[in-house]
Amino acid sequence: MAKKKSQNKFEPKIVVFACNWCSYPAADSAGINRMQYPPNVRIIRTMCMGRVNPSFVLKAFEMGADGVLVSGCHFEDCHYSFGARKAAEQYKKLEAVVKMLGFEKERIRQEFISAAEFPKFATVVREMVDQVRKLGPNPLKV
Ligand code: FES
Repeated sequence: MAKKKSQNKFEPKIVVFACNWCSYPAADSAGINRMQYPPNVRIIRTMCMGRVNPSFVLKAFEMGADGVLVSGCHFEDCHYSFGARKAAEQYKKLEAVVKMLGFEKERIRQEFISAAEFPKFATVVREMVDQVRKLGPNPLKV
C-alpha cells in the first residue's frame, strides 16, 4: 500500500523561547502583517531571554522538540539591562552541552530580534525549520 506523500515528509517541531518585549511582539507583528512562516513553531513567551535557563532547552529536547530557538532583545534594548548579555554567555555553554549530548549544534539557535524586526523573525523561523528538516528528527526520538 502506497503511503500518502505527507507521511513521508518529516516536519520538525521547533520550540521558540521569545522575549515578551521584543521577539514575541515581532512574532505577533509577523502574523498581523501576514508574513508567511512555517507552522512548525511553538512559541513560549518569557519575560527576558536571560530567563531561559539552558535546562529549559534541554527539557524541550527531552520532550520531543527537534530544534530550539531562543530569541530576545538586542543587548541595548533588554528591559532587564543585562539579561540578553547573560543569555549570550549561557548560549555558548549550551552549545557545548548540546554537542556533548550528541545533538548537532544546528538544532539550537539564538537570535536578537526587536519588535520592529518582524520580517527577520519570519526569516529566522523559515531558515531554522529548513535546517532542522535536513537534520531529521531529534535523535532522542529515533
Ligand atoms: S527583556 Fe528582552 S531579552 Fe531581556
